[in-house]
Amino acid sequence: MVSVKRYNARPQYNNKLDKLQMRTHYCNNLSAIDIEKTVTLFGWVDRRRDHGGVIFIDLRDRTGIVQIVSDPQRTPTSYPIAETLRNEYVVKIIGQVSKRPPESLNQKIPTGEVEIYAESIELLNGVNKQLPFVISSLDAELVKEETRLKYRYLDLRRDRMAKNLQLRHAVVKAMRRYLEDEQQFMEIETPILTRSTPEGARDYLVPSRVNPGQWYALPQSPQLFKQLLMVSGCDRYYQIARCFRDEDLRADRQPEFTQLDMEMSFMSEDEILALNEGLVRSIFKAVKNLELPYPFPRLTYQDAMEKYGTDRPDTRFGLTLVDVSDIVKDSGFKVFSGAVKNGGKVKVLPIPGGNDVISNVQIKPGGDLFKEATDAGAKGIAYIRVKENNKLDTIGAIKDNLTEEQKNELLARTGAKPGYLLLFGAGDTDTVNKSLSRLRLVVGERMNLIDPDKINLLWITEFPMFEWNADEKRLEALHHPFTAPNLADLDDLATARAQAYDLVYNGVEIGGGSLRIYQKDIQEKVFETIGLSLEEAYNKFGFLLEAFEYGTPPHGGIAYGLDRLVMLLAGEDSIRDVIAFPKTQQAACLLTEAPASVDSKQLKELQVKSTYKPKTKEE
Ligand code: AMO
Repeated sequence: MVSVKRYNARPQYNNKLDKLQMRTHYCNNLSAIDIEKTVTLFGWVDRRRDHGGVIFIDLRDRTGIVQIVSDPQRTPTSYPIAETLRNEYVVKIIGQVSKRPPESLNQKIPTGEVEIYAESIELLNGVNKQLPFVISSLDAELVKEETRLKYRYLDLRRDRMAKNLQLRHAVVKAMRRYLEDEQQFMEIETPILTRSTPEGARDYLVPSRVNPGQWYALPQSPQLFKQLLMVSGCDRYYQIARCFRDEDLRADRQPEFTQLDMEMSFMSEDEILALNEGLVRSIFKAVKNLELPYPFPRLTYQDAMEKYGTDRPDTRFGLTLVDVSDIVKDSGFKVFSGAVKNGGKVKVLPIPGGNDVISNVQIKPGGDLFKEATDAGAKGIAYIRVKENNKLDTIGAIKDNLTEEQKNELLARTGAKPGYLLLFGAGDTDTVNKSLSRLRLVVGERMNLIDPDKINLLWITEFPMFEWNADEKRLEALHHPFTAPNLADLDDLATARAQAYDLVYNGVEIGGGSLRIYQKDIQEKVFETIGLSLEEAYNKFGFLLEAFEYGTPPHGGIAYGLDRLVMLLAGEDSIRDVIAFPKTQQAACLLTEAPASVDSKQLKELQVKSTYKPKTKEE
């Protein structure tokens, strides 16, 4: 057994020794131009292979992999140590860069032309436990997400995750460069322990020990502070800001997430959008080397809802919805006429070639498309198939209850020709839009209509100021209550359009913002419209209303979901894959096991008592 020197002491970087004590290169930076150089590398053993007396080690650091060779003849000093190395051991290697023999050139990795003959290998640390999963991407295995999150520090060593973190860093760097160097933005931090900021989710609360009975809220966004910074004259603010929202989690939602948050004074909506197009273009240029065309297309909220049934349409493919309410409002088919009579709509998703691809089984109860529609609130899907000579084939009730004229109008309005499948949604407008927009996406995917390489960025503008909250029976701000109404709509605030905009990237909302109210009287009217009495408004936001009295510039801003943007750029399906230490769907950190119970002493100090009673088995 060869005894291996463990590296315990701090490295002694002695100037009299040579530079080789220190790292000379990252693995991935080595190439043919380094041949003959003696280099010092630090890293992990990605894989070790023993080829009948010659040992090959793939050495990995955060940049990538380079091949190390140790053989008893050429490098007798390192060989006994090379023999003892195992996956994920941490080593320091000094050796000479050589050209690989032609038969072992590796086109797949950037360093595939070279290898390092290890004159010395120093074991800095070993692995004392069985690794929970293989790290090397060459032996990649499918690992359960739970295990990955529990051992996240190992998961982050893996190629895919290491690349995602580097991409995230590159995106943030590009943002900073553009905003600071080209647009005079200043980064300013805002408080984490603060008061509730109304973005529509539940707050995370923190009890105050020194003010018993009082609570801080973690910011859902820096919204109010950034507006106050405009009152302060900061003019152009940005922050890579952590936000906290206690809401139901999905693949694109985390309880704490990061925004690129911006606010600027004295700019029109058009100027703000143009500046932001510059920002997004510079990000794509920096990380994808792509020149995005501009200006980005714009769609009003109303048009987006009409055509796509959603305010974040994926416009990489066609399949737009058609409103046929007026054609079928008097038809004998009660599902249609009833929907219109009750103030709802009948809309169609016309699918060219749908007859060949989508079966009746899929549309009828028990089918996958039926499930998609009903999950979105619909009661079912009515459909018509257009056959040869424009003959319509459908389930009895529709066919028998449409007049020839209505059938012809339907064909003309939807542009349907033989081979088309028409899927109908009928009912309240919201449900019709939700179910058809969902079907549109599923059908688009099934029929391979979505080009994964396409990049569509789209502004949605002219959102309504308010939406009806049926549970609370009141209007609530669609964006947030600091959004400015369109000046042309001031007479009827309740139905006014807002000067608000969202940026949608391939069907995902990556950012949203607005021009803000900067006059106290309009702000008070908006509070009143959402059912907040003046007293309540002053209680909650008195500091903002007061600030508006001291010379507030016109201002507006936007915030991007950094995690979502990086997720899309990385081609991932979940924001968890671009966050170093994310939480699960249950808002838990599997690595640290947060949240956790705390000492009763701590609760006592905070004067907080839990009313939680664990459920009994019967419950
Ligand atoms: P908004 O609430 O639209 O606006 O948030 C801005 C962007 O943040 C992202 N986002 C999230 N990402 C991950 N997890 C979440 N739970 C989550 N919630 C939101 C989305 C979204 O577009 N203060 C305003 C901005 C402004 O008006 O300037 C705000 O926060 O990508």
